[in-house]
Amino acid sequence: MNSFVRHRTLRSSEGLRSLVREHAWSVKDLVLPLFVQEGLKGKEEISAMPGIYHFGLDEFRREIHEISQLGIPGILLFGIPGHKDDQCTSAYDENGIVQQAIRVAKQENPDLVVMTDVCLCQYNPTGHCGIVRDGKIVNDESLTLIAKTALSHALAGADVVAPSDMMDGRIAAIRSALEEHQLHDVAILSYAVKYASAFYGPFREAAHSAPAFGDRRTYQMDPANSREALREAMSDVEEGADMLMVKPALSYMDVTRTIRDSFDLPVATYNVSAEYSMVKAAAQRGWIDERAIVSEMLVSFKRAGADFIITYHAKDAAVWWKQQG
Ligand code: PBG
Repeated sequence: MNSFVRHRTLRSSEGLRSLVREHAWSVKDLVLPLFVQEGLKGKEEISAMPGIYHFGLDEFRREIHEISQLGIPGILLFGIPGHKDDQCTSAYDENGIVQQAIRVAKQENPDLVVMTDVCLCQYNPTGHCGIVRDGKIVNDESLTLIAKTALSHALAGADVVAPSDMMDGRIAAIRSALEEHQLHDVAILSYAVKYASAFYGPFREAAHSAPAFGDRRTYQMDPANSREALREAMSDVEEGADMLMVKPALSYMDVTRTIRDSFDLPVATYNVSAEYSMVKAAAQRGWIDERAIVSEMLVSFKRAGADFIITYHAKDAAVWWKQQG
């Protein structure tokens, strides 16, 4: 008689391991963020994010084709406008860069789920996610512009609008704008739990959205807090969000689990720019096995409770997924 349990028995062959495996990721769980830049011809690689580009509209069309071939079900669009002003007019211009890109993506592949990041930081010279008055980011005045932006994305054909600004009340404002225009099939994915994180560093270069003064800690969450995540998510659910997001992904998997267990809405996690760049940098030096590292990260996000994952690794992962058969 053994006085211990033989855990290794069920690990003894790949067949057995696959039968008892609890979680898996697939290409169908992935959403690829894409940057479209007004006035750009072709595409330009973002230096801190190897393999990720700013796209002009023509190259963007080609990219949509490639993504569709790879079986990636969704994209998350970010715009880099040619013009910034205090009222963020390029954010809700019906011929703005995001609005044009939505139409191109839908023409190229009507089945692709087109999500848009709704935020003001790329569209005003302060680089803040809301309107600035006397050095302060004011909440309620920002809501009108955020709702206007989300509405213009929805009118251009977006399937999902995803506000990332962390102003209070934005979900209610967007929900009522969508209702007023009878846009009943447009979903709201709330960046409900978004932390003030150093992991957004490379993105700010990519989106030209670094704050011109101060930081985002008066609106994004303190990385030390998790109970507060429940309060943030709760109010977004009450205001009418369809899906909740936790961001960043890697350092916040405990929060993803908490949100998964506390709400029955679909939960997404955003594997953000520095999480990507760190993997790429180490892989380029031959320090890690990129495919194994990314696969392990993706299954960890699923294990933490994410229904889908927004990740810059989506194209590579889709190729690996195909090869795996
Ligand atoms: C805009 C926004 C940011 C990210 C997504 N939307 C940057 C920020 O809040 O500073 C980060 C994405 C990433 O790092 O990949 N508000």
